[in-house]
Amino acid sequence: MTFRVAAMPLLLVAAAASAQVAAPPPPSQTPPDAGMPLLPAWTKPALRGAWNDIRLSPDARATALVAAMTRDEKQTLVFGYFGTDFPRLQYHAPADAHSGSAGYVPAIARLGIPAQHQTDAGVGVATQGGAPVKRERTALPSNLATAASWDVAIARAGGAMIGDEARRSGFNVMLAGGVDLLREPRNGRNFEYGGEDPLLAGTMVAEQVIGIQSNHIVSTIKHYAINDQETDRNAGNSVLDHSAARVSDLLAFQLAIERADPGSIMCSYNRVDSVYACENSWLLTEVLRSDWGFRGYVMSDWGATHSTVAAAKAGLDQDSGFPFDKEPYFGRPLRDALDHGAVPAARLDLMAHRILRALFAQGVFERPVSEQPIDYAAHAAVTRAGAEAGAVLLKNEHGLLPLAASAKRIAVIGGHADKGVLAGGGSSLVYPVGGNAVPGLQPTIWPGPILYYPSSPLDEIKRQAPGATVRYADGSDPAAAAALARDSDVVIVFATQWAGESFDVAMALDGNQDALIGAVGAANPNTVVVLETGGPVAMPWIDQVGAVLEAWYPGTAGGKAIANLLFGKANPSGRLPVTFARSIDQLPDPAQPHSGDVVYKEGATVGYKWFDAKGIAPLFPFGHGLSYTRFVSEGLQATTPGGVLTATFSVRNTGARAGASVPQLYVAPVAGGWEAPKRLAAFTKVALAPGARKAVTLTVDPRLLATWDEAHHRWHIAGGTYKVMLADSARDIRQTVTVTLPERTLPATWRAR
Ligand code: GLC
Repeated sequence: MTFRVAAMPLLLVAAAASAQVAAPPPPSQTPPDAGMPLLPAWTKPALRGAWNDIRLSPDARATALVAAMTRDEKQTLVFGYFGTDFPRLQYHAPADAHSGSAGYVPAIARLGIPAQHQTDAGVGVATQGGAPVKRERTALPSNLATAASWDVAIARAGGAMIGDEARRSGFNVMLAGGVDLLREPRNGRNFEYGGEDPLLAGTMVAEQVIGIQSNHIVSTIKHYAINDQETDRNAGNSVLDHSAARVSDLLAFQLAIERADPGSIMCSYNRVDSVYACENSWLLTEVLRSDWGFRGYVMSDWGATHSTVAAAKAGLDQDSGFPFDKEPYFGRPLRDALDHGAVPAARLDLMAHRILRALFAQGVFERPVSEQPIDYAAHAAVTRAGAEAGAVLLKNEHGLLPLAASAKRIAVIGGHADKGVLAGGGSSLVYPVGGNAVPGLQPTIWPGPILYYPSSPLDEIKRQAPGATVRYADGSDPAAAAALARDSDVVIVFATQWAGESFDVAMALDGNQDALIGAVGAANPNTVVVLETGGPVAMPWIDQVGAVLEAWYPGTAGGKAIANLLFGKANPSGRLPVTFARSIDQLPDPAQPHSGDVVYKEGATVGYKWFDAKGIAPLFPFGHGLSYTRFVSEGLQATTPGGVLTATFSVRNTGARAGASVPQLYVAPVAGGWEAPKRLAAFTKVALAPGARKAVTLTVDPRLLATWDEAHHRWHIAGGTYKVMLADSARDIRQTVTVTLPERTLPATWRAR
């Protein structure tokens, strides 16, 4: 493997120089042959044509360019390589791929078509596990933390930041936008997604993708669709009623795609109704194209393609991640299928058109990417703001938080808080400037390493409490931790759950942390628990502690963000994007995620909708989150000007400290008939100074008032009376009014924008 030292950012040159430049692979490691056409090296200036005219639409430019391409050139566009060597498969990435990257599609120099350099993923520029040199970049807090901010500005700013780092690292495609619905609290990839509600998830993920694409690069939205667990992910079969899918998993994708207009959709590993997602014509053509009007291209997940003709005909446009498929389906097999007419030439033209259209639409041709300096200080402020806005204060008895200046003896326990904060595992893992703060934790190989960002909460706590005695215990000895707790004014326990791609987790903290927290809480009721988890966890110790702050995976400035929240420099404003059940017995399917057919019998009754429908009281409800100040939402009125359900009300900060509230609007048909008693219909985040008041107007997308009528292939809003509820969470309804709506149908192609 050779390093392209010149192309590496300064940071990596030293590492590369120190790394042994590997000898050429022995003949036995000749890389597997994809059978792709080897395009001639081009020495003349690129051919120019109408496609270079930026006054033309992306479609017109793509049409002109496809017309100028040879078949081999079109085929080059539809076949992607893994960007990192993979010795186990005797694979060496193409020399022009960026070392350690997720993917690469060669340039077509004759026509000036740039290479597609693909990077993961949703929290920043990731480096593949097997890469010898890690790109050290800024990591946002997890995507679930961003969803927990309920703040579209935070989501967009975060996306803009990681998109900037992608561009300045030489990438023009970012494989972000995970929006699979959080049906299963034990899904190992929940941290990469937007939570349990389609409106919240679709909105927040869209805003991040808009931010990413503001850098003139393509973002994906993924993993399409119903890829809601990791167990058996490469073969598992998601079974979900189509009408239920339309108002749950698919609605999250539809709202996100409509709002963000991503260049690409990534189809997922799993089967849907027994047909692999990447060859599923219901998903890829009927829903995505005919109903939603998606204009970009569909790329497969890495190893998610299972055929040539079936996939091409179903609507797959780009086969990603050679050599991870069983065959290079869009390589030689596609050439053969085109030769024999099994795949029409027009289908290849359409694949190429969609890819080029996306590249034109995002400005990739006119704004080529390259290695550029990155403003890490400015980016640290962005990720820290995101972590502060996404953390959720779940419990805070007797005003234990923010920490009082009178706390002179502060104990900090567990969670490697003396070193850093936890990150999630798998392809989305961003390696931080400064490297892993806790190296060597198993597994060190993919989907590991278990990585802690070098942003130590302990150091930040010491910095913010210079007059206090701050002592740390690693938590390995609960008795010693309890003894330290007894001898302290306040105790802060950091508790972790490592989750990641390719595996599901228990809805619990790792190891014996529950026992540790129980022992510490019993020793000192002034105990604060800071959670660094991938998703919901049970809290058997909840009655023994005074406060709980869910910090999720808080990113590369997470330690500072947590300290700012604990000391009140930042006022918690996050709200749960997912219901925290008391135990797995409260879940639709308490059994561990299993292989084979995964039958989602709860249909669209996901998350808080399940708890409402079954009359179950969760540990902490969807939308819940405390603040260091108090808010009042009042004066709710609901009207339907022009047939659009519109709510007006005001929010007031009645406390002594600035903060932000998240008024939530839920709607419920008095006559019932939905998958659940109520649905989230609109939300906003309102920042207010002490004593300030703000008038708010929210409108409701009519599809959120509808059921899906599969027989007539359309949306249907039942006429009648609807309750409109202004709430502080799914179980804290502050004010209710009613409104009457006429019966209405909307075509499947209906769009809000
Ligand atoms: C992975 C993931 C996907 C990622 C891709 C490239 O297996 O499922 O999210 O973008 O492959 O690394």
